[in-house]
Amino acid sequence: MGKRTEFLYLSEKDTIEAGVLDVEMCIDNAQEVFKLLSIGDYLMGGSSHNSHGLGLVFPKESPFPNMPLAGPDRRFVAMPAYLGGDFDVCGNKWYGSNAANPKKGLPRSVLTLNLNDKDTGEPLAFLSANLLSAARTGAVPGVAARYLARKDSETVAVLGCGQINRSCLRNILSQLPKVKNIVCYDIFETASKKYLDWAREELKVDGRTTMDVQDALKDADVVTVAASRLKPLYIKDEWLKEGVTLLITGPVQTDASYWMSTNLIYDNTKLHETYVQEAVESGDKEQYYDGVIGGPIYRLIDAGKMPKLQDSVSLGDVILGQKEGRKSEKERVTFVACGMAAFDVGLGYALYQKALEKGIGTKLLLWDSPFQA
Ligand SMILES: NC(=O)c1ccc[n+]([C@@H]2O[C@H](COP(=O)([O-])OP(=O)(O)OC[C@H]3O[C@@H](n4cnc5c(N)ncnc54)[C@H](O)[C@@H]3O)[C@@H](O)[C@H]2O)c1
Repeated sequence: MGKRTEFLYLSEKDTIEAGVLDVEMCIDNAQEVFKLLSIGDYLMGGSSHNSHGLGLVFPKESPFPNMPLAGPDRRFVAMPAYLGGDFDVCGNKWYGSNAANPKKGLPRSVLTLNLNDKDTGEPLAFLSANLLSAARTGAVPGVAARYLARKDSETVAVLGCGQINRSCLRNILSQLPKVKNIVCYDIFETASKKYLDWAREELKVDGRTTMDVQDALKDADVVTVAASRLKPLYIKDEWLKEGVTLLITGPVQTDASYWMSTNLIYDNTKLHETYVQEAVESGDKEQYYDGVIGGPIYRLIDAGKMPKLQDSVSLGDVILGQKEGRKSEKERVTFVACGMAAFDVGLGYALYQKALEKGIGTKLLLWDSPFQA
């Protein structure tokens, strides 16, 4: 007789019950992950152990009528990781994305997460991961706000008023109690107005909308960027004021003079080294750089105009007190985050533990005894 294997299924509603909307818990969880990233107690995909993930990219055309074709935001991506420390677990986030989804009443991307026993590979849990992924994405700039933003910050500019920036703002405001005002900018006025209504209602913060990026940045102490690629987002160096904290979660371009003068802190320099390696391996470095958040930075590093990634600072190093974060109230600090499976596994594991403790979710049977054992 072989071993019986059960795993826990957590629906979106179950993850809410287990605490996925608990901002402080998510930020503390992300902070622990940052520490493990800094000391190296983790693995992600690829030979470098630091790949963001493996994408299934669709061709522009195909002789096979059923094969999916390239389209806006259309892809599948697998994001595996092992996370050490108290987590000590493997997992994989898997998502499909298609800009046409909202017309079908679905989010742009649909995400799930598996957690697995690191030794046997048995599934421990299968989780609905849209909220989880948004929560971990927002918790990352939340940790950055905790460590890098000026504590007297009063105004936050929101560039790109979608779901991810809702999570980013929720987390950022939890760390900066003096914020009184938000300024919402989106290429669609309806999106920024809807966002402001949501922020007033849920976060009890006031603000305004604008259709002009420069105007959005005028008084901003903190800027959170999470726009999609519908249109390039450009910020001029002189639009960012002294002492600003720029938190980058989605693509943005600015002048070389800004990148070269800001105190730039990465989510994990090793992830960015891998992006550069993958760009070289792709055979079309420039096109690859165009498609990743760090592209504009890597180009300046390649040109010798910015410090090499090996000589740069990751947020985990700042949290551990090994490197300096913000050095003065006046300097402009930038934090860039590209998303790592380690954060999905970290938060997924915390929700799984909470669900076990509180009896949340549905136990599913893989087998009573494996047929092939
Ligand atoms: N770093 C990470 O871990 C991570 C994780 C998930 C998503 N993301 C990125 O975050 C971004 C937002 O994702 P989302 O799910 O909220 O998308 P979304 O489609 O829900 O919202 C994006 C918003 O950006 C707006 N927008 C597009 N171009 C703009 C521009 N030039 N200026 C201002 N607004 C603009 C759109 O109108 C839309 O309202 C995407 O780029 C996504 O790839 C990053």
